[in-house]
Amino acid sequence: MNQSISLLSLFSSILHVFLVLNFYGGVTVNGDIVRNFCKNEWIIDPYLNYDFCVSSLEANPETKTSDIFGLAEISMELCLRNATYIHTYIEGILKDGKEEPRARMYLEDCMEFFSTAVEEVQEAVEAFNGKDYYNALRHVSNAGIEADTCKIGFTEAGVDFSLLKKQDYNFYQLTKISIKTIATIHDSKYYKI
Ligand SMILES: *[C@@H]1O[C@H](CO)[C@@H](O)[C@H](O)[C@H]1NC(C)=O
Repeated sequence: MNQSISLLSLFSSILHVFLVLNFYGGVTVNGDIVRNFCKNEWIIDPYLNYDFCVSSLEANPETKTSDIFGLAEISMELCLRNATYIHTYIEGILKDGKEEPRARMYLEDCMEFFSTAVEEVQEAVEAFNGKDYYNALRHVSNAGIEADTCKIGFTEAGVDFSLLKKQDYNFYQLTKISIKTIATIHDSKYYKI
């Protein structure tokens, strides 16, 4: 295994222990779990958009009284709804037929990728409900890979991706949030708290 990757994941695991201690130890500032979670995760991973993280989670009022398990469930719901929406959105573009001709083939591929992404998130939810956090993580990651594959099709062919850019970014952030909530739970299994 690549040493820098394993060091990075060790580093991220150690930081996750602090997060878990924060959550379970009740040391959250103002008891605001969403802001604490998003901030701590943003410190580990600057590609996580803090404002996006807070606003997407806070859009569901249940997060106010959630613990990390609740955040994981809510974030997976967001991924599921978004992937379903993106699939429908692409279908709409294809119906309108206003896209540049070269984009059509890639949009059709992306519809497939996003329907697989929906299935992956559904499987993640099932695994999560069965406390199989490893596979929950794997399935959410796979959903992210599907979305990535959609984008790569466009970029490699030099076809304009602006039609899906915003949706792609939202989904990328949402899968990141899900992965981080589940990883926090998963890592906590290895440490006695
Ligand atoms: C997708 O996610 C974004 C960001 O959280 C949100 O604004 C949007 O409403 C979501 N779409 C659906 C259909 O859930």
